Amino acid sequence: MLAGKPDPATGKPDPNKLKAFFAAHPESAKALTIIKSKPFSSGFDNSTFNSLNSFRFINAAGTSTAVRWSFVPLDAFKPEDPAQSANTDKNYLFDDFIARANSGPVQWRLVLTVGQPGDPTDDATLPWPEDREHVDAGTLTIDGIEAEAPGNCRDINFDPLVLPVGIAPSDDPLLSPRSAVYSQSFTRRAGEKKEPSAITPSEVQK
Ligand code: HEM
Repeated sequence: MLAGKPDPATGKPDPNKLKAFFAAHPESAKALTIIKSKPFSSGFDNSTFNSLNSFRFINAAGTSTAVRWSFVPLDAFKPEDPAQSANTDKNYLFDDFIARANSGPVQWRLVLTVGQPGDPTDDATLPWPEDREHVDAGTLTIDGIEAEAPGNCRDINFDPLVLPVGIAPSDDPLLSPRSAVYSQSFTRRAGEKKEPSAITPSEVQK
């Protein structure tokens, strides 16, 4: 984040800082190559969301299996149009999503990827082999939207280590700092004056 921070003089990130960061973190450079190999989707509705971090699922017999998960959209993938990202209105992805959700339910399949012994669980930058077993575990349906003002998603901590019985953290070293930093962020947010939501109820109404 620091290496990519816009330089106040140019308003753009300093390319030398980014270069130095990627030279010192070859795993990030490799992960970025994977990220850049796929086009961005045109919106939240046709985007796949990946856990990246690995977790362990524990069955009734106590057997633990490494798992990653993805939310795979039912809406067909549509690549982002360059005209979209040129939009100076920063809310365009939200506005598009509100319009999409108001036209009917938006759905994703919850797809679990089952790891095999030896698959890396301690490095979110390393993909698992493509041929791993996938389990279709259910559907997420968004059939209504609310503004954040009533606090429905504002006062939540997205700590990835608050897990239900049967799901345990893996040895991924990112999980613990994520938990700590989300707690810090949540605490700071909780102490802020509550501003009106950027998305108002009238914007989400049909
Ligand atoms: C596997 C990698 C990660 C995933 C999938 C992930 C996902 C998320 C998600 C879904 C949110 C909530 C966004 C929302 O409010 O709508 C979030 C928030 C956040 N993430 Fe991450 N994140 C990851 C890694 C990290 C790392 C490594 C850091 C920093 C060490 C970080 C720092 C934060 C912070 C500070 C917030 C805001 C927390 C709050 O105020 O509640 N994340 N992240």
